[in-house]
Amino acid sequence: MAAHPPADEPGQPPKLTTNALAEIAHHPSVSQRITPFEVSGGVDENGKLLPVDYDKLTREFGARLITPQLIERFEKVTGKRAHRFIRRGIVFSHRELEKILDRYEKGEPFYLYTGRGPSSDSMHVGHSVPFEFTKYLQDTFDCPLVIMMSDDEKFMHSKKITIEDTKRFVKENAKDIIAIGFDPAKTFIFSNLRYIGGAFLENICAMASRITLNQIKGTFGFNDSNNVGEFFFCAIQSAAAFATSFPHIFGDNPSKVRTIPCLIPCAIDQDPYFRQCRDNAEQMKFKKPSLIHSIFLPALQGPGSKMSASVDSSAIFLTDTPNQIKKKINRFAFSGGQDTAEKQRELGGDTKADVPFQYLTFFLEDDEELARIKKAYESGEMLTGEIKQICIKEMQAYVADFQAKRALVTEEVVADYFKQRPLTYRGS
Ligand code: TRP
Repeated sequence: MAAHPPADEPGQPPKLTTNALAEIAHHPSVSQRITPFEVSGGVDENGKLLPVDYDKLTREFGARLITPQLIERFEKVTGKRAHRFIRRGIVFSHRELEKILDRYEKGEPFYLYTGRGPSSDSMHVGHSVPFEFTKYLQDTFDCPLVIMMSDDEKFMHSKKITIEDTKRFVKENAKDIIAIGFDPAKTFIFSNLRYIGGAFLENICAMASRITLNQIKGTFGFNDSNNVGEFFFCAIQSAAAFATSFPHIFGDNPSKVRTIPCLIPCAIDQDPYFRQCRDNAEQMKFKKPSLIHSIFLPALQGPGSKMSASVDSSAIFLTDTPNQIKKKINRFAFSGGQDTAEKQRELGGDTKADVPFQYLTFFLEDDEELARIKKAYESGEMLTGEIKQICIKEMQAYVADFQAKRALVTEEVVADYFKQRPLTYRGS
């Protein structure tokens, strides 16, 4: 077995910040490729989609897998049971999560930072995964949370999206995010196109002045055809990881505020931004952000792909009706079961490949029920149609509950979250 290259411990050069993704790109037909702009598990010689190899990705990115010991420490320090995403390896990797736990233990301040690139009117259930987890972290840590709506990013990245479009997307997506249940007293949501300026822009420029095109090309897989906005945006996503970007929350005493770190819950494809941020943070006299990464909810078509907002049949949308959910799962959900009922009874199904089972691991809270389904399906006692029924019911319930909460999010509620104001949290 090849020795694992070291993770980016302080004092060591971060691993593969420049070449990992570029190397992967040399064999696009066989290797997985994960950047903020492309997620694919790769394809085998027969053209079959391969599932994303998350352990390999963690090694290549130089992050660390979340170990049972770390979960135990998390539960001990917070006094709360680990979220089902952590228990089930959906939130699976991290960078220096221990540092945040140390601070929580000592009552020292930190904040959560996450974001959304508003690129369509409607979010799907895959988008809600990192936000559901972020809500759990906010409830657990009782700390401030900032949510970036990177409308600038989506505008600069897509020729099809106008500034007017982004305004609609920001508002609609913000309603979706708010419906997840973030505490309004502790949460600041901002649109880059509106909020950038002042202290935040100072940090963006300080970061931008340290990033070379070479670094970005390697880290993000960009080339000379990417526009300058895409290059510059890397500094914007990074700079929100510094507390001094938010004087209305943390005050404007830089020597004190500089040392407040953040924890960034995000899907693993966003890691390259923060690797680059961590590379520069200490030289800029800030603390490196900590990260906690989730895997992707697979598309209906199966592991190896992620849900796409532009492919209706790939995803269950938060606006779907119960009937649409039923139809999509029955018609499109990739099955790990056998072709016939007899064969299924004899050989059983493959829960690793089975999309309905995968969705249940994400959304079904009850561990015992999940274990029962796994056993029954793998042994052939449960048929493909039956597991699909269970999945349909669970997804219908999740989406209906979400829609009920979203109906309560008025324009005034949205405006409250976007207001620049102090937040109230433990120790504030
Ligand atoms: N770039 C992300 C996207 O396209 C949005 C984003 C901005 C983000 N800041 C973030 C995601 C911080 C996670 C954490 O969706």
